Amino acid sequence: MKPDWPLETERLVLRPFEPGDLADLHRIHADETVTRYLYNEPRSLDEARSLLDRKIAGAQVCAEEDWLSAAVIVRDGGHVVGDLALQWVSEVHRTGEIGFVFDPAQQGRGYATEAARAFLGVAFGDFGFHRVVGRTEARNTASVRVLEKLGMRCEAHLVENEWVKGEWQSELVYAILDREWR
Ligand SMILES: CC(C)(COP(=O)(O)OP(=O)(O)OC[C@H]1O[C@@H](n2cnc3c(N)ncnc32)[C@H](O)[C@@H]1OP(=O)(O)O)[C@@H](O)C(=O)NCCC(=O)NCCS
Repeated sequence: MKPDWPLETERLVLRPFEPGDLADLHRIHADETVTRYLYNEPRSLDEARSLLDRKIAGAQVCAEEDWLSAAVIVRDGGHVVGDLALQWVSEVHRTGEIGFVFDPAQQGRGYATEAARAFLGVAFGDFGFHRVVGRTEARNTASVRVLEKLGMRCEAHLVENEWVKGEWQSELVYAILDREWR
């Protein structure tokens, strides 16, 4: 399954990742403030290269657990400002999971929310999902805010459920159903 690339929103273009996106992807994923609440540490150039290979393959999803990936570009801006992902979690349950990572220099402008909204359209439209979830560390205020602005409902607060980066972390689980989206 794949969307009808490219996807366009008011200010953004979402397209598959390309080999030429390495510098932008590395800049975003090498930043400590970006990875603070992700499972991974800041990525080296080699690590960003293998991440980019997976993201290029993620122009479509073929099986459960595959991630659809989009490079997010500001119209006429040229550079990739965001890395958007949608996992096909379950075929039987028609469930997906959404994730987003944006360039710190471009944060706070509503880009993640605008781009993620387009991906929810893909999830419930093109892919026919019934439910999309979003997970975030409870202290990740910006991520929480994006999930709320998308109209997702907080369904769980898992207390100290994961040992990450030398500490117990707590996870919030958000979700939205197709009928709620429409
Ligand atoms: C989460 C992330 C993608 C949001 O990107 P963004 O483009 O800045 O998102 P938006 O501009 O659409 O919305 C961000 C919201 O969070 C708010 N926000 C950001 N930092 C905040 C903070 N420290 N405290 C309170 N609110 C904060 C913004 O004000 C905005 O809300 P508003 O529209 O009500 O003012 C970005 O912060 C990021 O890449 N973080 C690191 C990676 C990450 O943690 N991804 C999520 C993994 S679950």
